[in-house]
Amino acid sequence: MPASPGTVNWLSTPAEWNAVMISRRGLLRGTAGLATLPLLPRSLQAQAEGPQLLEARPAQAQIAPEGYPKTDVWSYGGALPGAEIRVAQGSRLTRKLVNSLPAPTSVHWHGIRIDNAMDGVPGVTQKAVQPGETFLYDFDVKDAGTYWYHSHNQSFEQVARGLHGPLIVEESDPPDVDRDEVLVLDDFRLDPETGQIASFENMHDFSHGGRVGNIAVTNGVFNATLTAEQNERLRLRLINVANAKIFELELRGLEGWVVALDGMPLDSPIRISERLLLAPAQRADLIVDVTAEPGAEAHLVRFEGDEGYSQVLFSVREKASDSRRDPPLPLPPNPDMAVTDLDDAMQSQLRMEGGAMRGFASAHMNGREVGFREAAQSGKFWALNGTLGMPDAPLFVAERGQTVRVMMQNDTVFPHAMHLHGHHFREVLPGGGLGPLRDTLLMFADERREIAFVAHNPGDWVFHCHMLTHAASGMMTRIKVLA
Ligand code: C2O
Ligand code: CU
Ligand code: CU
Repeated sequence: MPASPGTVNWLSTPAEWNAVMISRRGLLRGTAGLATLPLLPRSLQAQAEGPQLLEARPAQAQIAPEGYPKTDVWSYGGALPGAEIRVAQGSRLTRKLVNSLPAPTSVHWHGIRIDNAMDGVPGVTQKAVQPGETFLYDFDVKDAGTYWYHSHNQSFEQVARGLHGPLIVEESDPPDVDRDEVLVLDDFRLDPETGQIASFENMHDFSHGGRVGNIAVTNGVFNATLTAEQNERLRLRLINVANAKIFELELRGLEGWVVALDGMPLDSPIRISERLLLAPAQRADLIVDVTAEPGAEAHLVRFEGDEGYSQVLFSVREKASDSRRDPPLPLPPNPDMAVTDLDDAMQSQLRMEGGAMRGFASAHMNGREVGFREAAQSGKFWALNGTLGMPDAPLFVAERGQTVRVMMQNDTVFPHAMHLHGHHFREVLPGGGLGPLRDTLLMFADERREIAFVAHNPGDWVFHCHMLTHAASGMMTRIKVLA
């Protein structure tokens, strides 16, 4: 008999939710009774001609372990996460969103250098799609890589209810791997009594570190398990779709390289020797070799403080070959990504303030000056350059093709995952070098970091924290690129 859901405190005993727990010393515990789940279902349907439907609708999913009730979710096409969309680089992606939800929605194609009108941001690039209505998304996909799609309306709630899915754009010359696995990392906050998604009316989520869950899942399931073979080479496409959780990851029984971040290939693969941080909305493409022996287990390990948990278990069945392969080559770069003319760049600044503990002295809200307490009473806690929520004017207006530098200062005590739409940027490193191309930058408390990018894509692009309750309570601005 399964334990009664009411007897488990999901928040304080994550071990209960992790049949495999690995301590810092690598000791494996509690594997007894682990049910091996079948390979994760994955839709690999080829792109058909004409608009395929992408239906946003309520569904049910078994998020909690077997024996606990199913959870009511909002889904794309009934699946959690939404069905994988996989297209060839340079092709056109067409999906007709059908809104069968009880609330207005939209779809944002995160990380895609997209036509502005297709960016899916209600109030900026389109109207929210009302229940019963449809919207045709139709755009060119010029970059290969690992992306995702998600609701951009009331997103702190809609993404948390399940409205997200992977979007994979294949290189014409893909790397030599045995298998390509998409791993959508998420955490849900479920009510332990009912197994249902917990209420969204928690002010703490808005004013502190965001809505962190109490059960971590991969591809919508708890204790995700895959099979593998020794010396097999896997491409793992990690996508963090969680509201606020920063995944801290390590490999066990797997060795490899990071080959791309936020969809964009690294100039050269980086050997994974330390913990990998994946902030909300960020992606990492890994190429890993299975080093664990047949009969053993390999893991993608998630750390919560000093305790490690199996985020994905790879059950090693056989030996694929007697030796490992040579290190991987870099992935082919995407077109026109150079960040040049840093010396002639337009300079901008973004000061991040607010939240619990530090707040702000005063900020603008709907055209008037308010103190932190008054702002908090109307549900706004965060200011960008002294404005709570979307400002009347863009942060800056750039000519098309102009290089822009934005110096960002995190004057809060919380980390933030700053995401720019429609462009990838590079960090201008203190020594003068440039960091990897990214669309989301994790900034810890009191950090001051500068990004630079070429404003090549005309339109109004939002720039916000991807800790989604932060975006909803003030951390949202936009830039404009002239046509
Ligand atoms: Cu992934 Cu504005 O979002
Ligand atoms: Cu985005
Ligand atoms: Cu934030």
